[in-house]
Amino acid sequence: MSIIEYYHQIRKKYSLASKHDVEWRHDVTTAQLEAILQRLNAAEAALKEQGSKKMKKVDLTASKAEEKLCEFEKLYDRHTGGWFIPGWLTEPFDNEQIENWQSIYKNTPNYAPVEMEVGRFYRALVSLVRPRRVLETGTNNGYSAFCIGKALREIDEKAKLFTLDLYEMEHIFKGTEVEPLIKFLAANSLEIDLAEFADESGVIFFDMLVLDSDHRYKTIIGEINRYAPFLTNGGVMILHDSMFFDGIAKVVEQLMERKEFELVNLPTPRDCGRGIRPPGITIARKVADVPANFLTPDPDLLELEVNLPGRNDLDTALLCRFPRI
Ligand SMILES: C[S@@+](CC[C@H](N)C(=O)[O-])C[C@H]1O[C@@H](n2cnc3c(N)ncnc32)[C@H](O)[C@@H]1O
Repeated sequence: MSIIEYYHQIRKKYSLASKHDVEWRHDVTTAQLEAILQRLNAAEAALKEQGSKKMKKVDLTASKAEEKLCEFEKLYDRHTGGWFIPGWLTEPFDNEQIENWQSIYKNTPNYAPVEMEVGRFYRALVSLVRPRRVLETGTNNGYSAFCIGKALREIDEKAKLFTLDLYEMEHIFKGTEVEPLIKFLAANSLEIDLAEFADESGVIFFDMLVLDSDHRYKTIIGEINRYAPFLTNGGVMILHDSMFFDGIAKVVEQLMERKEFELVNLPTPRDCGRGIRPPGITIARKVADVPANFLTPDPDLLELEVNLPGRNDLDTALLCRFPRI
């Protein structure tokens, strides 16, 4: 092959294997060019194999989950940030339920699942952080688990989402291709045996924690003290309702004092609290190791039910609806 032909072939392949250092020089010999071409051929073959493996892993074309999530999101009320769904889901969710539920629950939206915008944020966040093992506390009907599981599956079919709830109701991800990735455990987040989360080598670790259970100070601080040591460095911990519930806000303040976490607090679009404060979300990124029980509970707050005394304006807040749009 002539030098020109080598160059021609190398150029064609170079965009496929740009990680390989091809030096563009004019004084190279054909032997050197042949060696480069060989490297590029090998890189091209490896990339092709990797590509075909990926295609086999995740078939995004036939997504029952995507369809079901879109259907479920038709039940979201953008005016209040609530959902037109029963408080306790006992029947499987399907297309027929939509009109039915829209009319039955029109005036009594349910605020248990996170806001749709938050669900979509979870999907985006998973695709940024690319976790392989996630733990969620507070499954409820599984909307947030569905969002996380859907995004996880797009990264790796073998990824795992553990999701815990004291009670088991119908889960909206049931019967979709996301279900095999999700391990639901009917358990108390503060009592479950940690061995449940061990991988095949017996190691316990998570790349993402999503804490959304009962919102009391003692529960959230207990969950963080229990699970944050198993969060990988660089992993992300999400606290939902961190602006609305005083107990969570207090723990956020404690976390902000720690150098092991970087924190961001964002409002979320739901008008609980008559517009006084939204549920809110906290994103805490772990940047250094923490030991178990690294946060010292404030004894005065351990008995705090949900919000601090004196906030009577918030007592019925979860039931309030505020037209915003
Ligand atoms: C706000 S809902 C979770 C909503 C869900 N993350 C979603 O967005 O679809 C809170 C759930 O946490 C559960 N829960 C409360 N305390 C818990 C605990 N200590 N351990 C596990 N689950 C708990 C409740 O039963 C309830 O279903």
